[in-house]
Amino acid sequence: MGILDKMRLDGKKAYVTGGAQGLGKAMATGLAEAGADVAIVDINIAKAQQTAREIAEATGQKAIAIKTDVTDPEQVQNMIDTVVKELGGLDAAFNNAGMCLNVPAEEMTFEQWQKVVNLNLNAVFLCSTAAGRYMLKQGSGSIVNTASMSAHIVNRPQPQCSYNATKAGVIQLSKSLAIEWAKKGVRVNTMSPGYMGTDLTLNSPDLKPLIKTWNDWAPLGRLGKPEELQGMAVYLASDTSSFSTGSDYLVDGAFTAW
Ligand SMILES: NC(=O)c1ccc[n+]([C@@H]2O[C@H](COP(=O)([O-])OP(=O)(O)OC[C@H]3O[C@@H](n4cnc5c(N)ncnc54)[C@H](O)[C@@H]3O)[C@@H](O)[C@H]2O)c1
Repeated sequence: MGILDKMRLDGKKAYVTGGAQGLGKAMATGLAEAGADVAIVDINIAKAQQTAREIAEATGQKAIAIKTDVTDPEQVQNMIDTVVKELGGLDAAFNNAGMCLNVPAEEMTFEQWQKVVNLNLNAVFLCSTAAGRYMLKQGSGSIVNTASMSAHIVNRPQPQCSYNATKAGVIQLSKSLAIEWAKKGVRVNTMSPGYMGTDLTLNSPDLKPLIKTWNDWAPLGRLGKPEELQGMAVYLASDTSSFSTGSDYLVDGAFTAW
């Protein structure tokens, strides 16, 4: 069997949180194109259903939508149970939903801080451990958490201390789980995108005016496209990444390299 056959995901079952749009939608599409059945997990159920329909039509794979607020422990456990029941198992978990607030630290309320920590870090803990409990029993599985280049550098000029802190936390949490579960067949990695063209950047009134500045500083001179994460997503979900665990994969067009 050649390497491209080994990278195929036929028979595998995956979910992607924040999968209704942006990077999550691109990852879910890539996984389905490679042969996986996918669940689009999102708080925005109308958009998740639309995305699931599009993916099913384009790829012929099973694609379902599950309404979940990933910051709620009970909803997260229900989501895992639904994935297993509806798709027939769980092999790859993509915990990707996240948000950014651009508020100077000295003006940030505790509520604003907590909102970002809840979605970007607490929800990743809830989803990773709920998926992990199922995968540990099964003796196999790949968990991929979306961090960011902001785990490695402090973005400028926009202030975003809560985002940067939570994304660094996602990497250390994921490495810790990877070590705890290394001998039990469950792999945990993070993907760290650079600036990508999604709603989060293109339609944010705070961030949109900064895109030209970021592009001037970017070695490639442009934002990443969501589909430029698909290859990494398929690699990490597939068995070809069997020696990859506890790692962070930067996909940032060398933004953090200089
Ligand atoms: N866009 C970028 O430049 C960039 C760069 C690095 C990392 N990231 C990270 O990638 C991930 C996806 O970013 P994106 O740009 O696609 O974002 P996006 O804002 O376009 O999409 C986020 C999705 O998450 C969903 N969501 C929000 N709160 C939720 C909740 N409580 N429960 C379930 N779903 C919820 C939203 O409905 C939406 O569909 C995030 O973790 C983000 O921090 C993005």
